[in-house]
Amino acid sequence: MISNGAAPLLLMTPGPTRVPDRVLRAGARPMIHHRTREFSAELATAVELLNPVFGTSEPILPVHTTGRGALEAAICNFFSPGDEIAVCCNGKFGEMWAGFAESYGITVHRICTDWTRHVDVMEVARALEAHPRVSAVALTYSDTSTGVSNDVATVSRTVHMIRPGALVLVDGVSSIGGMPFSFDSWGVDFAATASQKCLMSSPGLSFAALSERAWAAAARAKLPRNYWDFTAIRAEILKECPETPGTPPVHIVLQVAEALRLMHEEGLERVYQRHAQMAARARRGASELGLSLQCPELGAYSTTLTAIAAPAGVSPKDLRNGMRVRGVLTAGGLGKYKDSSFRIGHMGDIRLADVERTLTALAETLAELRVTR
Ligand SMILES: Cc1ncc(COP(=O)(O)O)c(C=O)c1O
Repeated sequence: MISNGAAPLLLMTPGPTRVPDRVLRAGARPMIHHRTREFSAELATAVELLNPVFGTSEPILPVHTTGRGALEAAICNFFSPGDEIAVCCNGKFGEMWAGFAESYGITVHRICTDWTRHVDVMEVARALEAHPRVSAVALTYSDTSTGVSNDVATVSRTVHMIRPGALVLVDGVSSIGGMPFSFDSWGVDFAATASQKCLMSSPGLSFAALSERAWAAAARAKLPRNYWDFTAIRAEILKECPETPGTPPVHIVLQVAEALRLMHEEGLERVYQRHAQMAARARRGASELGLSLQCPELGAYSTTLTAIAAPAGVSPKDLRNGMRVRGVLTAGGLGKYKDSSFRIGHMGDIRLADVERTLTALAETLAELRVTR
């Protein structure tokens, strides 16, 4: 393991996640100029190996930004001022979609606003019927604030049935790469993921897929964009030797290409199964320790993270500190759960043994806190 001498904390966070040694080494190579065949080959590998991860044959676009930038880019590429969209706001990241859209002058209809529930497809259908000008529905596949897994396939099918031509926009930042995703067969129009989560690399690079419907919307859209222009990115990535507009984060591209080689060596199905096993173990472990999930009534749970309620009288900060002392870094609750819960990420390079170590640290911390109270 590459180390700076200090014992590394086990990163059980929903990003950035542990970067495997092979990926670290790929990112430690001497600089390659970004207008060379050598760099193009790595970029081509990254985007090609992402096609099955997104479940699409559409070209994958590299977007030089963390996840939020790719999502904001979707807004300015697909819409014009005054357009209307419906946003499923059952978590902080659903709400983030709404914020991006509003900041560009788009009218947002917030739906499915209960953070304790998954997206209700009937509510999506009702919103489309109530608002005939809505031209897109945005949702989050795995909302990292609650641990919900929303049923993208059913939402997408419903949207296209009720409003042919409308776009389905999916935030896959904490899910794509760790959870099965079928962009083409689910009829998704835009989806994005980022390097620092399931793709086991450093933060700073996102990837997006667009459907033909989305490209048509981009051609009509009037919102200004330049750095974020997907059409410009597509023109570069489709060259015989793929490039990007401007200078890409070279070493993150090298890392992502290597991380994807690793994922394909393991086999994508096995990667997804591993995530499902870790999530099941984390939920069972919490229950065995007498803890409730943060949102126990979700229809389906993300397999990349688990949000757990701190027991009555115990502060999540103390719990996380106790685990940190034992070498395990978890994440705090988000938004309305900031003071009442904590989150365990189990995505990317994380293994079942890491989840076991985390549960042991949790059990020891709980025992310690209860003893001292
Ligand atoms: C579901 C989801 N969407 C968007 C983001 C924002 O991504 P970034 O921090 O890479 O900008 C995150 C980050 O945690 C996320 O989990």
